Amino acid sequence: MQRKFAILLVTAAAAMFGPSAQCQDVEAGRKKAEICVACHGPNGNSSQPAYPILAGQTARYLYLQLKDFKEGRRTDPQMVPFVGNLSREDMLDLSAFFAAQKSRGGSFKPDPAKVAKGRDKAAEVLCTMCHLGGFMGQNEIPRVAGQHYEYVVKQLKEFKTARRTNDAGNMASVSKMLSDADIDNLAHYLADLY
Ligand code: HEC
Ligand code: HEC
Repeated sequence: MQRKFAILLVTAAAAMFGPSAQCQDVEAGRKKAEICVACHGPNGNSSQPAYPILAGQTARYLYLQLKDFKEGRRTDPQMVPFVGNLSREDMLDLSAFFAAQKSRGGSFKPDPAKVAKGRDKAAEVLCTMCHLGGFMGQNEIPRVAGQHYEYVVKQLKEFKTARRTNDAGNMASVSKMLSDADIDNLAHYLADLY
């Protein structure tokens, strides 16, 4: 009886403190990610600019986006079919896997004059107050350093026109202050940050 109780305690402690405590398993995530690489590229380093680079993104942000796609707060015709069957554990494993990969940046060639204008705009709007210096991101705030030019432009325009609304208002207010030229310059700057 006592022994059984002790085993129960050990199991409970393992569940609370063991590596599976947060249910984040990079190796399990690697296996589950096999279906994602068709679009997001090997290890999440996509070469096609419509597909965001997931490698090196913060785990918390990745998880929240998957959850938002699954629960309908964010939508995309290509992405949505791949989240329907994901469990919470799948989403945590996938997020842990992609967060642990190294971003290689996109292949876009930024224009130095636009990079400089984008850098000034980012300083003026205080983007890094949230995204951190060098746009490396933290927790639920995404890394944008080295992200594809086309993807960044699309997201900023969608925040501005309220097509993408899963940001709890953070990006909605910021993007309203940005002209199309600002968005173009910022996307050059962000692509250059890799
Ligand atoms: C058929 C192509 C395709 C496949 C396969 C796919 N995705 Fe996506 N995914 C997209 C597109 C396109 C977007 C960008 C949507 C947009 O423009 O808002 C996206 C966006 C995302 C985002 C948000 C990234 C960000 O920076 O906000 C995450 C996270 C993500 N996908 C994870 C996954 C995972 C995990 C899988 C595999 C289970 C997967 N995707 C499979 C096309 C795909
Ligand atoms: C008040 C905090 C805050 C500020 C300031 C801010 N952001 Fe964000 N940004 C966020 C959050 C939070 C998200 C994630 C929203 C979500 O969960 O969908 C985000 C998302 C983004 C995305 C989408 C990333 C992706 O992978 O889809 C881009 C691009 C971006 N921000 C660029 C910028 C730029 C450029 C500026 C300055 C002009 C800026 N942000 C200022 C908080 C902020």
